[in-house]
Amino acid sequence: MNEHDVIVVGAGGAGMRAAIAAHEEGADVALVSKLHPVRSHTGAAEGGINAALHDEDSWELHAYDTMKGSDYLGDAPAIDTFAQDAPDEVIQLEHWGMPFSREEDGKVSQRPFGGLSFPRTTYAGAETGHHLLHTMYEQVVKRGIEVYDEWYVSDLAVTDHEDPEDRRCYGCAAYDIKTGEVAGFHARDGVILATGGPGQVYDHTTNAVANTGDGPAMAYRAGVPLEDMEFVQFHPTTLPSTGVLISEGVRGEGGILYNGEEERFMFEHGYANNEGELASRDVVSRAELTEVNEGRGIDDEYVELDMRHLGEERIVDRLENILHLAEDFEGVDGLDEPMPVKPGQHYEMGGIETNENGETCINGLYAAGECACVSLHGSNRLGGNALPELLVFGARAGRHAAGGDMAKAEIPTGPSARSEDGAVDSPVKPGAVKPATGDTVADGGEVRSDGGAVTTAGEVVEQTVIRERERVETLLEGDGINHAEVRDDIQETMTENVNVFREEDNLKSALEDIRQAREAYQDVSVSDPSRTFNTDLIHTIETRNVIDLAEAITLGALAREEFRGAHWRKDHQERRDEDWLKHTMLRWNGGDPDLYYKPVILEGEEKTYEPKERSY
Ligand code: FUM
Repeated sequence: MNEHDVIVVGAGGAGMRAAIAAHEEGADVALVSKLHPVRSHTGAAEGGINAALHDEDSWELHAYDTMKGSDYLGDAPAIDTFAQDAPDEVIQLEHWGMPFSREEDGKVSQRPFGGLSFPRTTYAGAETGHHLLHTMYEQVVKRGIEVYDEWYVSDLAVTDHEDPEDRRCYGCAAYDIKTGEVAGFHARDGVILATGGPGQVYDHTTNAVANTGDGPAMAYRAGVPLEDMEFVQFHPTTLPSTGVLISEGVRGEGGILYNGEEERFMFEHGYANNEGELASRDVVSRAELTEVNEGRGIDDEYVELDMRHLGEERIVDRLENILHLAEDFEGVDGLDEPMPVKPGQHYEMGGIETNENGETCINGLYAAGECACVSLHGSNRLGGNALPELLVFGARAGRHAAGGDMAKAEIPTGPSARSEDGAVDSPVKPGAVKPATGDTVADGGEVRSDGGAVTTAGEVVEQTVIRERERVETLLEGDGINHAEVRDDIQETMTENVNVFREEDNLKSALEDIRQAREAYQDVSVSDPSRTFNTDLIHTIETRNVIDLAEAITLGALAREEFRGAHWRKDHQERRDEDWLKHTMLRWNGGDPDLYYKPVILEGEEKTYEPKERSY
């Protein structure tokens, strides 16, 4: 068994930042990741990192923009902490050698991004995430932090006390993709989940194939509530054929959106009379789809993004990567032609419920980055706020897990934070589904093989390893269907029914499809018997996570009868603070999700945020 003080699962931006912070506290840290660190999805982040660095800017303005962007569903302690810590994190990156784009005088450049009242997005061309990953990986190597890359963590080693708040996470079991070995990882002080988002729940997404929501699904089944999962961000500018991201940086530099009638529709059709193309993402995505649905799109599918007027010198200096993406994936020369764009799934605002120190309700289990919900973004994330989030909360989780001296968090977590029961008119009754192949950890303990008798840390990890070995063998020995059929069905129904525009009937039909997919998953198996780089096996295990998260997103979306941020409901066209100013929480509850709510915290450090009508 491998043993470390702190084990970080996932080695993208949040994971590496957490590992570095824990190491700085003196911990023996390991990163365990299914990918090599520099292949993590953070590398696909293009636009930038928001931080109030300028004399005329302030953390208070950044916090206000973030709260407004969240449509008042963010928690003030998270937002204030984030806006205060972000500048130091950017300066730290700069000192580590991050090759930021710069002005003539050498200062780090900052550009406008959607929903920001000040141009505060720092960037490195249009490949900010790539440079961020490499900069941090250098620090990981320099510190000698152990990296187990191409190890897929498939389950957490958690005790099965009845109340999740009494449980403890002692580590995890992981599958070595190179050799087929399943081994245990014992974390003496804490496990930090930093596994990224669940973009693969959808078929048109900017997310990498690896983004299957492994961390949230494992934490959920171990008893940590998922928070606000219905809030899924659709980025307004993705390439129609692939979902590849065309950075908001294009619009930040002055790029213009046109419909098929060559109208600058953001202004001409009154979607955002002040900010136009730089309105918040939810606003721009809905505007584009409205244009298409009302017959003013191109090929009934997309609109166009034009950056030609910026001139070759500026484009090559600040957006060169965009030229390559448009050329390689659409055959379009962005210097000569507008680029086709449409909304695509980009980011999950919800995730594993944590507080400002990255703690979940299970002792010793932390989460940071996109897989977590602290809640910073509420119902809509502002562009450029994801990278600083993973820096700020990755660092805080790492420090806390390693025993650093930190103030007690203000945000309550776990079932004891419940303020109200929820109800959802679901057409399917989830409780009736038997556990999936190899499903061994269930909230409430009913399908755990140890029957609650296992007590020591080593035993909990060892039991988890035994169960995961059994799961792998069962999948390899079976003679069932291929997981891809199931995953395709999920992606299709989510893209069709749980997209930018949501209607009750569609959400219900998605839940029925998800139920069928869950049943079909009982019969999956892996035909490739190989123990070396058996990607079919990994994808089969991941698909189970995709199913659980698709269900969580859809249940939350069906229950929330209002229009807030990225969550638009046809029959509920208003934000209803009297009834819905609250976080949606889901507990796994042995496969029969328990829906409840907890209050939003609007009392900040210096003021109480007052919900206002949101316009751009
Ligand atoms: O558009 C972009 O460059 C993406 C940035 C983000 O999601 O923060």
